[in-house]
Amino acid sequence: MKSSYLPIITLLSIVGLRYNSICVNAANADQARPSTRFKLQSPPGEPDAKRNSNLFRVVNEWKYIDFEYPTFVERQLAIKNGDFVIKNNLPLGIDVFNNRLFITTPRWKDGVPASLVTVTYPTKEISPPVRPYPSWQAHSSPYNPDCSKLISVYRTAVDVQCNRLWAIDSGIVNATVKLNQICPPKIVAFDLSSDEMIVRYPLPESQVKQDSLHSNIAVDIRNGDCLDAHVFVTDVWRFGIVVYSLAKNRSWRVTNYNFSPNPVASDFNVYGLNFQWLDGVFGMSLSNGPRSSDRVLYFHPMASYKEFMVSTDLLLDESLWTDGTLDTSKLFVPIGDRGFNGQSSTSGIARNGVMFFTQVHRDNVGCWDTSKPYTRSNLGMLLDPAENSTLIQFPNDLKVDHEPRQGVWVMSNRLPIYLYSQLDYSDINFRILRADVDGIIASTICNPMLESVTKSEKLAIVSIEEGQCY
Ligand SMILES: *[C@@H]1O[C@H](CO)[C@@H](O)[C@H](O)[C@H]1NC(C)=O
Ligand SMILES: *[C@@H]1O[C@H](CO)[C@@H](O)[C@H](O)[C@H]1NC(C)=O
Ligand SMILES: *[C@@H]1O[C@H](CO)[C@@H](O)[C@H](O)[C@H]1NC(C)=O
Repeated sequence: MKSSYLPIITLLSIVGLRYNSICVNAANADQARPSTRFKLQSPPGEPDAKRNSNLFRVVNEWKYIDFEYPTFVERQLAIKNGDFVIKNNLPLGIDVFNNRLFITTPRWKDGVPASLVTVTYPTKEISPPVRPYPSWQAHSSPYNPDCSKLISVYRTAVDVQCNRLWAIDSGIVNATVKLNQICPPKIVAFDLSSDEMIVRYPLPESQVKQDSLHSNIAVDIRNGDCLDAHVFVTDVWRFGIVVYSLAKNRSWRVTNYNFSPNPVASDFNVYGLNFQWLDGVFGMSLSNGPRSSDRVLYFHPMASYKEFMVSTDLLLDESLWTDGTLDTSKLFVPIGDRGFNGQSSTSGIARNGVMFFTQVHRDNVGCWDTSKPYTRSNLGMLLDPAENSTLIQFPNDLKVDHEPRQGVWVMSNRLPIYLYSQLDYSDINFRILRADVDGIIASTICNPMLESVTKSEKLAIVSIEEGQCY
């Protein structure tokens, strides 16, 4: 980690001037104020900190993913003919509803027999084989594609009020080898009582660009009406959000310059690997205001340290995006900055208004009480890296469930090692973790009962990257 500061500082001295002016305004309050990367209330080492980090519990973990075939012979056959290549399967998306977890295993490479799977929760086994969802028959082979079936699902979203599981199927196979869009991307939904597919909406050609990758999904239900549902899908490689209206069975594509990646944040140095991801708009979380019309969508590109927001009413106004006459560019606003190495994949907001977000470069999970300003001193980190540095490695997906005792769920999957190096299959590579929302934030700055740090006099060590502004 340390060695990576050097080039960044050099870089900053070059770009510093440009960012300074932005900084002064945005971070004015920051200056006199302490900021810390970890909990302010309980410095690492104190009992509170220890209890906190322990609150992330492993639900399931795997060295590799195995599938539950109807018979042993079928499994052996699939391995023999290359339909199932154990080491090519990597879990990505996580969701939970009642007694089931939903996991996605996109077809990054050949040999992935199904890209949406389920396991029961809780399981007796810590490393259970996964079962294709809703059935084996619902998944198409990549070699003879049936586009009405599932091809390569990236992420899901559960809409509890209406008992539905939504998924974004990218339609892309071999994404890491030789990207092949064998079917149009599609939005699908399953009724979680019957496990029937109840929505199948292929994105119109005009909304899919060359080399688009649709990889994240969020759902907004208006006024508790299950038909008044809108789905947001991010195109991480061509920087757009597709908005789908269930009532209209139509979609439109939204673009904004804030969907673009920041080149400075596209350089990743993790696990001894260096790579550049120019990934745009990706993480999304919906505020849970009492009135639908007040709701905002918080979002961030993957290659970025910043968080943005936009009113959902604006996204839902189809005519705005099809006429293209009104200038909407300034209606997407940056709200703050997580600082150097603050790249985040996905995020979610709990009932108490606390947002949780992954910190892929820091192997951590961040939190933010959305009623406070988005300044670094108001952002908490939930894991103490000194205590357990390998529990979470590349936290790639995050969900907040809707159970009475709310939980935050994380999928940790070592994706860069899978993509650019070699996973060691005698080691635990994939983990699903859960923490109680209330417990994990109790002694952090994200606790809504605690005052914003703006008013606090507490002193803390300012680490090197905190002094930098960009
Ligand atoms: C994926 O790429 C490999 C290597 O180029 C190729 O052999 C295979 O046929 C491709 N699979 C599909 C489904 O396109
Ligand atoms: C919605 O639109 C899609 C694609 O345009 C079509 O295939 C599907 O049948 C439509 N669904 C309904 C319920 O009309
Ligand atoms: C870190 O987590 C791993 C996996 O749960 C566990 O085996 C190990 O004992 C933990 N180490 C510490 C120091 O807590």
